Amino acid sequence: MDKKELIRLALEARQMSYSPYSKYKVGAALLTKGGKVYQGCNIENAAYTPTNCAERTAFFKAVSEGEREFEAIAIAGGYGEEPVDYAWPCGVCRQVMMEFCEPKSFLVITVKSETEYQEATLEEMLPCGFGANNL
Ligand code: THU
Repeated sequence: MDKKELIRLALEARQMSYSPYSKYKVGAALLTKGGKVYQGCNIENAAYTPTNCAERTAFFKAVSEGEREFEAIAIAGGYGEEPVDYAWPCGVCRQVMMEFCEPKSFLVITVKSETEYQEATLEEMLPCGFGANNL
């Protein structure tokens, strides 16, 4: 799976966003170490707090199918038809990544378009994170 395809799948997943309240559409494409991709979108709720982010939708789909090892996630977020800026994952999603991913190698790719993206490792995004190894 090349990076370009993962980015395309994040932009595709964004089209499924259910965000009638914020109108902020997010899509994610999560790559497992085995080479499978799980897509996710943000899913909002009239009561607001039950809202689920795109990244966690992708993780929960994958984990509920038995996946436990992940390589990378591409994320595309913003208002309107195409993202105009880079959307980095919220703190809750970073913590979920911390549960299942190796901080030094798990790659987060935030996407503006198929050719414009930025990258960081989980460790860069969540320094000194708390995980299973701390227990
Ligand atoms: N959102 C995500 O899907 N991922 C993030 O990492 C940040 C925020 C969603 C939640 C909500 O539906 C909308 O973006 C605005 O916060």
